[in-house]
Amino acid sequence: MGPVANALVTGGARRVGAAIARELAARGARLAIHYHRSEPAARALAAELGGVAVCADQTDAAQVERALGEAWDALGSLDLVVANAATFRRTPLDGLSEADFDEQVGVNLKGPFLWCLAAGRRMKARGAGCLVNVSCASTRRPWADHVPYAAAKAGVEGMTLALARALAPAVRVNAVAPGPVLLPEGSDGAQAARAAAATLLGRVGRPEDVARAVAFLAESPYITGQVLAVDGGMGIR
Ligand SMILES: NC(=O)c1ccc[n+]([C@@H]2O[C@H](COP(=O)([O-])OP(=O)(O)OC[C@H]3O[C@@H](n4cnc5c(N)ncnc54)[C@H](OP(=O)(O)O)[C@@H]3O)[C@@H](O)[C@H]2O)c1
Repeated sequence: MGPVANALVTGGARRVGAAIARELAARGARLAIHYHRSEPAARALAAELGGVAVCADQTDAAQVERALGEAWDALGSLDLVVANAATFRRTPLDGLSEADFDEQVGVNLKGPFLWCLAAGRRMKARGAGCLVNVSCASTRRPWADHVPYAAAKAGVEGMTLALARALAPAVRVNAVAPGPVLLPEGSDGAQAARAAAATLLGRVGRPEDVARAVAFLAESPYITGQVLAVDGGMGIR
């Protein structure tokens, strides 16, 4: 695939997802911005980029299928889906519950799975397409108080490789694994310093670093089944 014509970015209204949407739009793509709760931001970005906004709770297969269909129909088809939406919160072992696990794995693994399945089947039938999942560099250096999150993101990487085989040769499937590029809202200076110190480059990255890697994978016709770390060297620190 050369330049991306039509793309859906999940969780595209804000933060890293919005940077990915802007990068793809700057390269000429028409965008579908998926959102869950950020409707005003999604509609504003879609209007700015000349795209559409679609809503789904990605833990619900029917909602994902409907939203994917809306995006597909609005843009004529999709040649790229970026499964970016996720949730991130501390779940220390003391007090960690089955509900915590179900929530983290539901949003962070089942969610991307549902998007990939819905989009991958349509792309395979059409004979072309590309999926990019957003994992996390912490799969190689997991945090002790994020066990369900680590399990989910490692699952995303395994799923990426399996789907690359299942959907070849029509559909390429890759992932990016960001390091710290945008700290959770409310993070303080000490957290930023710890995040920077966890990398080889000694600094927090930017959402645009992830966006460029997503675009690179989308535009590289001979790459499939890969996980590209965009982590300032955190994974080998
Ligand atoms: N930020 C970083 O430094 C960093 C580091 C490593 C990996 N990553 C990965 O990069 C991606 C983007 O990071 P981020 O920090 O921008 O993410 P984020 O702000 O935590 O979440 C992105 C979006 O996910 C959507 N979302 C959450 N629960 C959902 C649900 N049940 N159904 C559908 N959508 C849901 C939300 O959309 P609404 O706002 O519309 O509700 C949210 O805005 C994530 O996959 C993250 O794990 C980020």
